[in-house]
Order: sequence, then structure tokens, then C-alpha cells
Amino acid sequence: MCGIIAYVGGEPALPRLVDGLRRMEYRGYDSAGVALVVDGSLWIRKNVGRVENLARAVDGGPPGNIGIAHTRWATHGGITQPNAHPHVDTDQRIAVVHNGIVENMNALKAQLLADGVEFRSETDTEIFAHLIRRAYKGDPQAAVASALKHIRGTYGLAVAFADHPGLLVAARNGSPLVIGLGDGETIIASDPQAIVAHTRRVIYLQDREIATITREGANVHHMEDGTEIGREIELLDNDYGLAERGGFEHFMLKEIHEQSESIERALRGRIQVREGNAKLGGLEMSPRDLRAVARVIMIGCGTSYHAGLTAALAIEDLARVPARAEIASEFRHRHPIVPPDAAFFAISQSGETADTLGAVQEIMLKGGDVHGVVNVVGSTIARTCGKGVYVYSGPEIAVASTKAFTSQVTAMLVFTLMLARTRNLSLEQGQRVAQALLGVPDKVREYLAAPGPVQKAAEIVANARYVQFLGRGYSYPVALEGALKLKEIAYIPCEGYPSGEMKHGPIAMLEQGTPVIMVAPRGSQRDKAISNLREVQARGARVILVHSAGDDELRDMADLSIPVPATSEFVSPLLTVIPLQMLAYEVARKLGRDIDKPRNLAKSVTVE
Ligand code: M6R
Repeated sequence: MCGIIAYVGGEPALPRLVDGLRRMEYRGYDSAGVALVVDGSLWIRKNVGRVENLARAVDGGPPGNIGIAHTRWATHGGITQPNAHPHVDTDQRIAVVHNGIVENMNALKAQLLADGVEFRSETDTEIFAHLIRRAYKGDPQAAVASALKHIRGTYGLAVAFADHPGLLVAARNGSPLVIGLGDGETIIASDPQAIVAHTRRVIYLQDREIATITREGANVHHMEDGTEIGREIELLDNDYGLAERGGFEHFMLKEIHEQSESIERALRGRIQVREGNAKLGGLEMSPRDLRAVARVIMIGCGTSYHAGLTAALAIEDLARVPARAEIASEFRHRHPIVPPDAAFFAISQSGETADTLGAVQEIMLKGGDVHGVVNVVGSTIARTCGKGVYVYSGPEIAVASTKAFTSQVTAMLVFTLMLARTRNLSLEQGQRVAQALLGVPDKVREYLAAPGPVQKAAEIVANARYVQFLGRGYSYPVALEGALKLKEIAYIPCEGYPSGEMKHGPIAMLEQGTPVIMVAPRGSQRDKAISNLREVQARGARVILVHSAGDDELRDMADLSIPVPATSEFVSPLLTVIPLQMLAYEVARKLGRDIDKPRNLAKSVTVE
């Protein structure tokens, strides 16, 4: 979390820095700040709250053409002006912006305090400024490298020196940093989105690397021994377009509506209808390799974990290969078993989630075979895995993930088809699976054109004290995802549960009128869902049902019903999740929530 940006060039730095912060605000929006080097001094402004507050505060600021800036997601220290970045040394000659966490903060701070250093903030970042000052003998990069020897933890760092109006120092360990090489200007940022308006030529800094940045470019060195690294310049591809709301009130709504196209992109060029098979180029797995896979283990967090749960059901169902999904933060820290015959998949929209990255590193360390299922091209998880599948959902800006989920599930279903064809799935069955997948984008389009009584459902849910989401089989992860969306952006207490398990506890939560959102498309467990529907209605619950169009029997049992186009069961989550995304959106809108930037959250969670 947190977004950092730094600029050195021939143009005024301030507008470029503020624009870059706006594009990275999804990384955190507790406070924002900027430092420019102007006439041999540091000019610093910081504000609590959104980047727009800072933008107003610095309007008409000095035309300096070198500076650093930051948008914060608070970890160490409350959401206050003194805790906003940049942080400076005692003499205010060195300014630092930081994304990451200093794990040995207490020990380092105690030492600095004992040496008489006065701290102005409660942050871990301020430690960098003081350590760099202590090591500074006129050479900025040497000072930063020396200071970093004391740090245990993660950082993406940019440092400005009042004494050096033409250079910046950047360093990375565990938090992403990309350097954009423009024409007479160089920009460092946590995310290429903040750079792409100025240049598509970039260098990705790797862990334990440090760079001196001038308007002419970047000199990258190994942190430990100082040897120079001739890093290749890469070109950002067209996926890094500048995301705009395009007439929608919020990014989330736009992204919900993009799902027919984003699912299409996840399928494009990958399905072989005649062969009843599929191909995923980046996977680097031959049919023989696929045949040797004894189990599939997917790792992810939040929505990406739910995508893994969904895919695991399809893999077992269609390919008959044992499959499971794991929460990355649990997996990585429990001394996990990494079977050599397992295929691991790290699912992540951002490709920067610290817990998922940590799990990937643990799997690799234990000799496991791990593939990325990632949206952001060139992200840390994609690079660390070195092979896998891009889901191509396009930039997802709203903190609540929507189109990434359906693209992740789609990509994993494509893999499922490949895996299944190396085993029990016949040509005809494979062709049917391929057709079902190819049919999804049109069905999503059809649903979005006539989304049913979502507004009415939102009125019911917006006034509820508690909401229960229920689903069986393929619809269980959808229920979890629906509840996560509602919590995340509308802040309504709710939970997702397997319909059959509900009677073992959560049924006690039901009162007269409690909304129960039941996901029950046509499929193997439909009739069981009917029993569960009756059970909750008998306790006074009001059932809002997501069901297959044409299933009139089920429709007539519900208090309110939202039909989605009928599909094969294994692709049903790609349809049934959409009304739940829309429901959360509409409830949040009715309650006046900040939909694209919900409280306490950030789009990519780069801390543990
Ligand atoms: O970028 P990732 O897919 O790795 O992010 C994982 C979760 O942080 C993310 O899905 C989170 O749960 C979303 N805000 C949910 O909408």
C-alpha cells in the first residue's frame, strides 16, 4: 500500500507529482504530501485525506523541477498531518517517501532517541531520514545504501536532497518501484499507471537494488556490493492505458459493466473449439506435464481467494484432480507442505499483494512449481513466478474487485479444460465445455442489459442490520464474494455461508425480515437449495434469490427474484456474481458511501 512518485526533469514537478498521486490513490488515501527541492531548500506540503486536498493546498506552488510525493495507507501512526509523508531529517535537508514496513523500527528508534534525535512523527519512515542523514558525507547514494544496511523490512523508497537539486535516490526491497525514462525527464513510481502519461520506456527495479536518478536516466546498482547493473529498458504495452470513468458515476460501476469484454479477453485465442481443448501460452506446460499434475493448489487473498475456491470446484468436477484454494497469509506462515507433484497458482489482480508474494516465495523455496494468474502485466508476482496466465481484465481502479474476479475464474476454467482433456474428458465433452465458456460473454451482456430488480433488493438490504448470503457448490464462493463486496463498500454486517451449513449456527441470526441473499442457479444442488430456502423463510427471513432465468418454480418461492441467463453449472459463478456486485454497489450508493475508495482499505495490500 501507499503510492510513491518522484520526478526530475525540465518541467514543473508539482503538477506531474500530483497527477501521479491521483492515479495511485487506490494504493491508500489517508493523507498525501509532496517535497520539492527549490533554491537549495526543501519545500514541503502535506495534508490529511485525499490527494485532492493536497492538490488544492499546493495550487500555485513553486515551479521546482525535482521532487517526491506520497499517498498514504497508514500502518505506523495514526492518520495525522505529522505522520503524512514526506519525512525529513532534523535539519530538513533530506526528504523521504516510503512504501513498506520497517520491522526493526523499535530497536532503531530507541538507538536514534538515545543519540538525541527528535522525532516529529510516529511513523517507521522517519527512521530512514535520520539514518540517511547520519551516513551522509556528500554522496547521496552511498548514504542511502549505508542507511539501508540497518533496515529489516520492506521498502520502495525515494529520497530527495536539498544539496543536490539534480538527483534523487530510489531503492527497493519488497515493494514495487518502476523508473520511467522520458525525454529529458525521469519519473519513479510504485505503479506504471503513474508514469504512462509521460513515457512507456521503463526499468523495473528489483529487490536489493538502488538507483541514482537524474533527468538523463537511472544508474542502477546492487545494494550490497555497489556493482552497476545494466538493466534492459522495457516498453509498457497498451494495457497501460489511462483509466478513466468513461461516463459512469464510479469506476466500480464501469468495471462491472466491462465484464462481458474482460471475460472475452481472458478467453481470446485460448479456446480450441474443434479440438475441445484450450491453450495457455504462458503456462509452459505440455500435455505430458499436465498429466503429471497430481493436485492443484491455488493461493490468493480476498476476492482472488474466492476465484481460487471457484476454480478448485471446477478442477475437481471436470478434471477429477484434487484441488483446493488457500488463503495466502495463512498458507505462507504455517510451514506449508509443498508437494513436488502439485501445480500451484498464485492468483492476484494487482500482482503486488504481499501475502500472496510471500506464499509464492515460500513455494519456490521449497522447490514447488508456481504459476501466476495475474492482471497487472510486469507486476512483482508475475515476474517472480516467471510463468503463468495474464487475465487481461484491463486496469481495475475501484478498490472493490469485480471484473478481475470473473477474469481470474475464466482463466482458471480455461486451464481446467486443458487439464481435463489430458484425463477423463472426451472430445465431445471438451467441445461442450469450450462452447459453454465461449457463450459466457454474450450471457453477461444479456444480463447487464436487463439486471432485474437489483434496485428493489438494494432498498431492502440498505436498511438491514445483518444480511446472510447463501450458496451451495459453485454458488458458495459466490456467496462469500457477495458478502465481501457488501461489507467492503457498504459496511453492512453480513456473512457468506454454505447453504447446507447455515442450519448449524448462522440460522440463529435470522429474525423477521432479515434479508437472505440466496444464490441458486440450475445445477446439481438446486433441489437442496429449495429446502434451505424454505428453512430460512420459516424463520421470517426475506429471500432475495439469484436464479436461472426460466426456473419459474424457484422464482415463485422467493420474496424477490433476480434471474440470470441459464448456463452450464461450472460457468454459473461468472453470471451469478454480477447481481451481487451490483447489489453492493447500489446499497453503497443509497447509503452515500465512498464507493471507489471505501474506508480503511487500499487496492493493493503490500504489507502483511
Ligand atoms: O490484488 P489482489 O488480487 O492480490 O488483491 C487481493 C485482495 O486484497 C483483494 O481481492 C481485496 O479483497 C478486494 N478489495 C476485494 O474486493
